[in-house]
Amino acid sequence: MVHDEMVKSNNLQFSSSHLLNHQINCMLDFAQVSSNRFEKEFSYFDVCQALVEQMELLDLQAKSMNIKAQINFEGFDDKDFTVNTDKSRLQQVFLNLYSNALKFTNEGTVTVTVIKSVDLRIKKNRIDISVQDTGIGISKEH
Ligand SMILES: Nc1ncnc2c1ncn2[C@@H]1O[C@H](COP(=O)(O)OP(=O)(O)OP(=O)(O)O)[C@@H](O)[C@H]1O
Ligand SMILES: [Mg+2]
Repeated sequence: MVHDEMVKSNNLQFSSSHLLNHQINCMLDFAQVSSNRFEKEFSYFDVCQALVEQMELLDLQAKSMNIKAQINFEGFDDKDFTVNTDKSRLQQVFLNLYSNALKFTNEGTVTVTVIKSVDLRIKKNRIDISVQDTGIGISKEH
């Protein structure tokens, strides 16, 4: 195999195993929710890295569909991307939204926006994450 193909094949294997892992975790969480035993696990981590990692899992898919994927950060003036939440649940929810955006977009761009602001009510930083796509749009019932 030529070098490029080997890199592609390794990436594909890496992504497949992570995506399978994602599906299994979703099922385990579903079981936890159904039995009222859902527990969050908080930790400090870099939100930029955590989201980009998930986007990379679907890089080949985005490229093969000719979809431009981009991520923008607003309000991180201190360059501090640390957040304190449940990392794997955040990645899970994000991957769901991001993969939906890719799945229902035939051409154009999927844009992820991460905004840091201060929630004045509780005097704490907050992070808002949105996923926008140029696809067919979501019908009301969803
Ligand atoms: N970005 C999007 N653009 C257009 N429609 C969407 C988008 N995201 C979700 N939808 C609609 O909402 C439905 C429900 O989304 P959901 O992620 O629950 O299911 P799914 O993507 O069809 O299946 P799964 O996530 O289990 O593979 C989708 O089938 C689709 O009709
Ligand atoms: Mg989906």
